[in-house]
Amino acid sequence: MDFLKIQAPKGTRDLTSDDARAFSTLEQVSRRIFALHAFEEIRTPIFEAAELFSRSLGETSDVVEKEMFTFTDRGERMFALRPEGTAGVVRHYVENSLWVKSPVQRFYYTGPMFRAERPQAGRFRQFWQIGSEFLGTSDASADADTVLMAARILKEFGIAKFSIDVNSLGDAVCRPKHREALLKYLQSKEDELTEESQRRMKINPLRVLDSKVDGPKLTGAPVMKDYLCDACRAHHQQFLSLIESSGEEIRENPRLVRGLDYYNRTVFEFVSPDLGAQSALAAGGRYDGLVEMLGGPPVPAVGFALGMDRLVMARGATASSQNGMAPHLSAAVIPLSVEALPTAFELAQQLRLKNIAVPPVSASKKMKNQLSAASDAGATWAVIIGEDELKKKSAMVKNLQTRQQSEVPLVEVPAHLC
Ligand code: HAM
Repeated sequence: MDFLKIQAPKGTRDLTSDDARAFSTLEQVSRRIFALHAFEEIRTPIFEAAELFSRSLGETSDVVEKEMFTFTDRGERMFALRPEGTAGVVRHYVENSLWVKSPVQRFYYTGPMFRAERPQAGRFRQFWQIGSEFLGTSDASADADTVLMAARILKEFGIAKFSIDVNSLGDAVCRPKHREALLKYLQSKEDELTEESQRRMKINPLRVLDSKVDGPKLTGAPVMKDYLCDACRAHHQQFLSLIESSGEEIRENPRLVRGLDYYNRTVFEFVSPDLGAQSALAAGGRYDGLVEMLGGPPVPAVGFALGMDRLVMARGATASSQNGMAPHLSAAVIPLSVEALPTAFELAQQLRLKNIAVPPVSASKKMKNQLSAASDAGATWAVIIGEDELKKKSAMVKNLQTRQQSEVPLVEVPAHLC
């Protein structure tokens, strides 16, 4: 019979062995660092009302315009698989009126996100993020904390090389003036722009600077930095000096714009020199208007998200196999007959209770194969139970590295291996 071969959907993948372990390590590292900064974990649904994202990220953002996986349920309600984590956290904050208890709330999250992008190296349709959202403060120190927390996660995970680009996008006071100047400049270049940029220019001129084709050509475009109002300039200066005094290096990039519309003031991006086109390891910024836009009071906020897939790629395959999370296989217990199986099974359980890792016991595989499998997996010990040993309530304990072996009473085997 001909079976249809079912494959993982385009742009998705199964995470196994080294990759799966590296993901767990990254989660552990992050959790520890978030705890040090007093952030609490939140797990929001993987799908939300599609409108949550169109309102938060902007109708004209690439993500909303063409990358959302949407579906309708039987009641014809439109949902979307979450393309990012910020909107869900803010929805939670607003839905539960968290500001009543305390406007300041700090959350972190980890999980899969979904964007129907064209897959390529480092760009997936299901990818994983770890992120944090700090709501309820407009202090520049919260922006600095967020950047330093992300930097520490990257470093402790083992990313040796990255740079941090920062910029300020201003706020509702100063942004319109920059927009006007930018629009004027773009109109003067309209004939040279791609059709896509001409379209973007009309709906969101800032986004034209983000264009891979036109962006690099627009070297004379007015930059936000020159238009910042006093309050935004002071905020940005304080943010920069807090980071600088921490010793972390950052790069001011006046052309850094973000693909999502909710940002104001601080934006930043962590860039890897090792990843080619998809070089953004992590990114984020301030979004002071989002809580209000989703129906809450005006509550400022700042956050970031890192791409787990990209961090694991940037750290490299060698490092991920040395991440110390691989279960350290200590011993293989090998029964030489079906009769010896229950004793071997019991011994394996006792060893595991002593934190000695033992793979499942089997009586149906040849001893030679089991010994070489144990050696290949890095086990130090093989514990063999044959007919003789069974009678004597003992086991043959072999050190797979030194090749020395000795007969040990069953009750003494755990102590012998420790
Ligand atoms: P974002 O820049 O869209 O920001 O995504 C953050 C990170 O997720 C990127 O820097 C990248 O590492 C990773 N990423 C994004 N798309 C993909 C993809 N298709 N495949 C693999 N990795 C990807 C946000 O999502 C904001 N919610 C960050 C934030 C939190 N801002 C404030 N709070």
